[in-house]
Amino acid sequence: MGAATPEQFYDALASEYHLLFDDWWSAAQWHGRVIAGILAQQGLAGGRLLDCTCGIGTQALPLAALGYAVTATDVSEAAVERAGAEAAARGIDVECGVGDVREVRDHVHGLFDAVISCDNALPHLLTDGDLERALRSIRACLRPGGLLLATLRDYDALRLTRPEGVPISIHGDAGARHGSGQAWTWPEDGEYVDIELFTFAEDGPGSWRTHSLATRYRALQREKLGSLLTAARYTAVEWLMPGESGYYQPMVLARAGQPQSP
Ligand SMILES: C[S@@+](CC[C@H](N)C(=O)[O-])C[C@H]1O[C@@H](n2cnc3c(N)ncnc32)[C@H](O)[C@@H]1O
Repeated sequence: MGAATPEQFYDALASEYHLLFDDWWSAAQWHGRVIAGILAQQGLAGGRLLDCTCGIGTQALPLAALGYAVTATDVSEAAVERAGAEAAARGIDVECGVGDVREVRDHVHGLFDAVISCDNALPHLLTDGDLERALRSIRACLRPGGLLLATLRDYDALRLTRPEGVPISIHGDAGARHGSGQAWTWPEDGEYVDIELFTFAEDGPGSWRTHSLATRYRALQREKLGSLLTAARYTAVEWLMPGESGYYQPMVLARAGQPQSP
């Protein structure tokens, strides 16, 4: 199939998103602990938090369980619906809503102490203009001095080696196995990477369900995102690499500066 928009891609993936993990909820709890640790180091051991690309809630749900007052939004209606169902199943209180990050200010109420966007969501925005819109809309959701925390793949390194994808991983016992893999294609200039994501699950001995879905990411480098953050009036822009943060992707932290006076 041809490349899907992020909305189409994640709508189609929502019911299968857990197949990307050995055990999604165990992984989610790990995400929550690591992000909460970073937030606490930044002086935010609690407070109002917006996850503006929440997916099925991999970070939003565990952070709510850890005591943050969480609002979770995403452009994929199916992902948001599943996040709400996963939260309800665990008795976790999260306010969920559908919204494009480029206009997230219009979809949420009040100001937040922190906004997060984890696991390579911002590189779904393919142009500087779209990233600028998103960063400004996120900033308008933050109280002055509030924190943006975003994580993305290490495209600085990946652009040098242009890997062919992510080898398949297989989890579970024979008869009930599941997993995923990715094939990547790099257009000539290296500015984007087109990915085909394969998921599979074994419904019984010898019976497999398989899916493939395609989408495009911007191979967004740290210097570019840093300069867009500064242009969007964030301050104290700081990158933490996995060795420093304990997270598995590079992480950028930035503080909301004062909005531009009219
Ligand atoms: C790789 S998933 C990560 C989701 C979640 N943070 C996690 O780790 O499971 C990227 C998410 O970004 C969302 N996304 C992509 N473009 C978006 C946009 N323009 N506005 C809001 N969400 C968007 C997708 O729908 C998807 O849920």
